[in-house]
Amino acid sequence: MAEASRHDAWAAGDSYDAYMGRWSRQIAPRFLDWLAPREGSDWLEIGCGTGALSGAIVERCKPGSLLSIDASEGFVSRARANVRDARVVFEVGDAQALAVATASKDIVVSALVLNFVPDKDKALAEMRRAARQSATIGFYVWDYPGGGVEFMRAFWVAAAALDPAAQELTEDRRFPDCTQEALTGLATRAGLRSVVSAPIEIPTVFRDFDDFWRPFTLGAGPAPGYCASLAPAARERLRQKLHDALPRSADGSIPLKARAWAVKGGAS
Ligand SMILES: C[S@@+](CC[C@H](N)C(=O)[O-])C[C@H]1O[C@@H](n2cnc3c(N)ncnc32)[C@H](O)[C@@H]1O
Repeated sequence: MAEASRHDAWAAGDSYDAYMGRWSRQIAPRFLDWLAPREGSDWLEIGCGTGALSGAIVERCKPGSLLSIDASEGFVSRARANVRDARVVFEVGDAQALAVATASKDIVVSALVLNFVPDKDKALAEMRRAARQSATIGFYVWDYPGGGVEFMRAFWVAAAALDPAAQELTEDRRFPDCTQEALTGLATRAGLRSVVSAPIEIPTVFRDFDDFWRPFTLGAGPAPGYCASLAPAARERLRQKLHDALPRSADGSIPLKARAWAVKGGAS
């Protein structure tokens, strides 16, 4: 496995929830408002993780059905436990080769996933294959190149100041295609019609420094994977650097923001 992807460490649902899941649960409803889906639709979700978007679809969109797929068995088990609804089925699968009937879905979505998929064009082609002619296809990824995920950017700036090798692992280096232009191009190349895109921004406010730091020590995701790989003394130096560098509100909370690019278009 490549050095960078070794640090992705996708496996444990609990630690993912503490690190990213709590923010992906906040952005999911904002994306769905923007998508404006029809009630009673048959949905397909690619890369459901622990079920942040799946849960929001069930709560807000009155789906007829929802098939949610993820490559990680651990995440699929966690999603099944998190979202219990007779209309929802969770399955293990690969975005690049979906075991889903052609032209069988009204809405096909993917949240914070496509940057991790090796062949994004293949994934888009699969999403489009699964979609009915009248379907909508939509996805979003964090704006890594634009520094849009401020808590990750703060982590890597501090890490790279102490360990230049960390620069190779940062999401903005690894995921340069998470720009509005590149993502719109991906959708257009896939043949989507009337492609539109928009930024979606949420506040990511940490109660205090421990609330910020603890998720980085749990190991799920690139930055926590890197943090777990450090010897105790190096980890403590990083902790102290971040402690000193982060902004604070009067109540001691750490006020940061996270921005994603969302893209949607018609299947044909
Ligand atoms: C950042 S998580 C996002 C999870 C969830 N959608 C959310 O909003 O919280 C990325 C997810 O993509 C999944 N993933 C990565 N590559 C995949 C692939 N080729 N096929 C399916 N899922 C994949 C990972 O297992 C992980 O659950």
